[in-house]
Amino acid sequence: MIEIALLCQFSPPDSSFTSPEKAFNSMIILYVVGLVVSLLVFGVIGICLYKFVKKATPDVVRELRNITLAPPLAPAPHVSLPPPVIWEADAPTMEKFFREIAEEKPVRFTAPDLYSFTSNYSTRLGSGGFGEVYKGQFPNGVNIAVKVLKKSSDKRAEEQFMAEVGSICRTYHINLVRLYGFCYDHFMSALVFEYLENGSLDKYLFDRKQAMEWEKLHDIAIGTARGLAYLHEECQQRIIHYDIKPANILLDSNFFPKVGDFGLAKLCNRDNTHVSMSGFRGTFGYSAPEFFLTNYRVSHKCDVYSFGMVLFEIVGRKRNAGVTDSGNPDWFPEKVWDAFEKGVLDELVVGCGIGERDREKASRACVVALWCVQDAPDERPRMSAVVKMLEGGVDIVAPPKPFQYLNQMRMGSTSGSSGSSEQTKPGSSQNSTATDTDSRWYRNTTTIMRKYEIQMASS
Ligand SMILES: Nc1ncnc2c1ncn2[C@@H]1O[C@H](COP(=O)(O)OP(=O)(O)OP(=O)(O)O)[C@@H](O)[C@H]1O
Ligand SMILES: [Mg+2]
Repeated sequence: MIEIALLCQFSPPDSSFTSPEKAFNSMIILYVVGLVVSLLVFGVIGICLYKFVKKATPDVVRELRNITLAPPLAPAPHVSLPPPVIWEADAPTMEKFFREIAEEKPVRFTAPDLYSFTSNYSTRLGSGGFGEVYKGQFPNGVNIAVKVLKKSSDKRAEEQFMAEVGSICRTYHINLVRLYGFCYDHFMSALVFEYLENGSLDKYLFDRKQAMEWEKLHDIAIGTARGLAYLHEECQQRIIHYDIKPANILLDSNFFPKVGDFGLAKLCNRDNTHVSMSGFRGTFGYSAPEFFLTNYRVSHKCDVYSFGMVLFEIVGRKRNAGVTDSGNPDWFPEKVWDAFEKGVLDELVVGCGIGERDREKASRACVVALWCVQDAPDERPRMSAVVKMLEGGVDIVAPPKPFQYLNQMRMGSTSGSSGSSEQTKPGSSQNSTATDTDSRWYRNTTTIMRKYEIQMASS
């Protein structure tokens, strides 16, 4: 186009044009038109080129380009590692990491990576049976929680550690805390998780101000049950949590629940390390009786028991174990059973300060919890049945009396052993999922359907 304009500009004037002024004016017009057209053509080519380059650049590269370099970290007095400046040097490695995270592969980080992500472990979120948790950030701005694991005395092999981390990493569900990667070397092992802005449920559940609406707590219970149902029933290899409690239910910025620390019992060999002096495994108050009774084999149903204990706490909005004003021990789950047996669950729920709107859901949660804490593991429903019962729309069968084992214990008939026994209750099955039928716990017929059936029968 430019050439056309130039040609027009320098071509000899047509003889038909008598006025040199007219010829000059037409040349100017042609020149301007040529210039505008050329600019348009260049503009279109430019936009096309930009779109092509943008498409060819992976997201991770763009994320890395947005990184603002943090000032070099001052070395901590107690840590001898040199301050790493990894973002410039290891940009291709980071790109690989982000790609692997996107593909849900476990990413292996180095100790200096974690040192940098956590700004020298400057923000501690808390600590538990496995180690300490620190807040950190990936260079693309994504917040993370880094759990530095206590070194296990039996020093499991690196391959075994990575195989177990790999299985946790592949366990993906919206109600489970996501594991981004890990670090494993001679000096340390750590896990890198997604960061949950609102921390753990215990903070809100046992808050004296009771700022969280009960309905939200009920939603949290259902979300937690869904996460557990996935671990027990949908994973390629069943994962037993062993430590369900409010501190392991984490909440995101919208208070959406995600179960944390699943798979760690196996990874950290907690079977050997997390047994307290009294023989309890997991956390006192949430552990199923099979941990200290010899009658039953420990199975995934121990998580169902612990979940039941959490449900009682959600209804009571307080820890299950307390003391009365007169100083006597006060155990809320037993109170719930007494109220259920006497048919006064509604009164108990009102006494817990639960409003009119949520009373029906709360009474139902009490009955579900009573099913979850049955003494015999096989009597407890599977987690998918728990979800159904909590959601409503089914008629829950009346549960039998739980906590009979307490009498057994009072009479001193337990061995007090913490090991799992291979014996089972007569008539119960080792493989509960094969024989469990959900109709033991609930019927699909709703009240409306029942009414309809009665009408049909009488007409
Ligand atoms: N992914 C996370 N995001 C945000 N905060 C977290 C995360 N993981 C853990 N935390 C915080 O760190 C605290 C300590 O967690 P940790 O798991 O070490 O202890 P715990 O849950 O009390 O005990 P346990 O070792 O039995 O799980 C939690 O109470 C929680 O507030
Ligand atoms: Mg925890």
